[in-house]
Amino acid sequence: MIYFDNSATTQPHEEVLQTFIEVNKNYYANPASIHSFGVEVNELLDAARGQIAGILKTNKEHVLFTSGGTESNNFAIFGVAKANKHIGKHIITTEIEHASVLEAYKALAKEGYEVDYLSVNKNGVISLDELREKLRKDTVLVTIMHVNNEMGAIQPIEEAAKLIHQHSRAVFHVDAVQSFGKLEVQFKGEAGPDIITISGHKIHGLKGTGVIAFRRKLNIEPFIVGGGQEFGLRSGTVAVPQAVALAKACRIAVEHLQENQAKFKKWRDDLIDFLTAFGNHIYILSSKEGAPHILSFSVRDIKGEVVINALQKRGAIVSTSSACSSRQKKTSHVVEALKVDPHFKEGVIRISFGAKNTDEEIEQFKAIFKEVMNELKGV
Ligand SMILES: Cc1ncc(COP(=O)(O)O)c(C=O)c1O
Repeated sequence: MIYFDNSATTQPHEEVLQTFIEVNKNYYANPASIHSFGVEVNELLDAARGQIAGILKTNKEHVLFTSGGTESNNFAIFGVAKANKHIGKHIITTEIEHASVLEAYKALAKEGYEVDYLSVNKNGVISLDELREKLRKDTVLVTIMHVNNEMGAIQPIEEAAKLIHQHSRAVFHVDAVQSFGKLEVQFKGEAGPDIITISGHKIHGLKGTGVIAFRRKLNIEPFIVGGGQEFGLRSGTVAVPQAVALAKACRIAVEHLQENQAKFKKWRDDLIDFLTAFGNHIYILSSKEGAPHILSFSVRDIKGEVVINALQKRGAIVSTSSACSSRQKKTSHVVEALKVDPHFKEGVIRISFGAKNTDEEIEQFKAIFKEVMNELKGV
C-alpha cells in the first residue's frame, strides 16, 4: 500500500516506539516522587522538556506536555481568553482553522466573547491589511495556523506577529501542528508567535502526545486543575514515556527537516505538473508556494470518495481534504472559504507525504492515477 495520508496521521518511527517501551519498562516511577527513582524519572522528563525547548528556542519551563494538538489548541485559546478577559473580550482567528480552534472560538462566542474571522484568498492565505484593520485595543488573542491541514497554505506568521505586537496587547497563538518538521518552527521574540502548539502523531510520534509552548511567561489559566503538575497549568501525573517519545520524534523531525522538505517539494511539484496535464478535468487547490507535504486537488464533477475508493482498490491511500471532517457529509469549511467552483467542491482529495514515502511510490501513484482517470471517463 502506498500511504499518502500523513497529514491525518503518520506511522511512528521505530526509535520512538523503542523509547516509549524503554521508558515504560525502566523509568516508571512518578516524576513527582521525592525518592531517588522519582528524581531519576523527573530528570528524564526535564531532559525531554529541555530538548523541545531548545528546538523551539524558549525556556524549558515554557514547554508543557499535553495529549495532542486538540488539547494544546483548546488550552491556548480558553486559557488566554479567560485569563485576560479583564483587558478585553475581542479575539481573532481565520476562517480556515482546524476544528480544534474553530470550536473553541465558537464556545467563547457563546460566552460573550466577540470573534472576528479573517478571510483567505484563493490560495488560502490571509490578508495582513485585514488583520491590521481587525486588531483593537481590547483584542486579547489571535490564533492563526501556520500551515493549513486541508490544502497546505502557509500563513505569513512573522508579518502577522509584527502587526499583532505593534498594534495590540494580544497573545499570538500559532497552530504549528502541520508545519512542525516541515518548515522552521520557533519563537523569534516580537517577530514571532507567543504560543506554539504541536502534535506528536503528525511527525511519526505517538498518538496522544503534544506540546503547548510559550515564548515568555503569559497570563494563562490552568487547563486541568489538580496536583499542580506542569507548572500548575496542567495537572495530572505526567506521562513521561510519551513525553520522552515526543522529544525523540521532534529531534528526528528537525534533524531530517531539510532532507524531507526537499524530497516532499520535489514530489509535490512533480505531481502538480502531472495533474496540470489533465487540463480542466482537475482543479488544484494547493500551490508550489504552499507547504511541501500537502497536495489537494479535485476531479471535475466526481465525488472525492469515488476517486479515493478507485485509488485504494489499486493500492494507494489518500484522503478527502481532512480526516476529521471526512465522515461528515457537508463540504469542508476550508473548501467553502476558498470559494472553489461548484464543479470541484464535492471532490477534494488530499495527498500528504511523510518521511517514509519513496520516489518509487510517486511513480507508482502516477500510473495508478492515470488508470483511475481512464476508468472515471466512463462515469
Ligand atoms: C492544523 C491542525 N491542528 C490541530 C490538529 C489536532 O491535532 P491532534 O490530532 O493531535 O489532536 C490537527 C489534526 O489534524 C491539525 O491538522
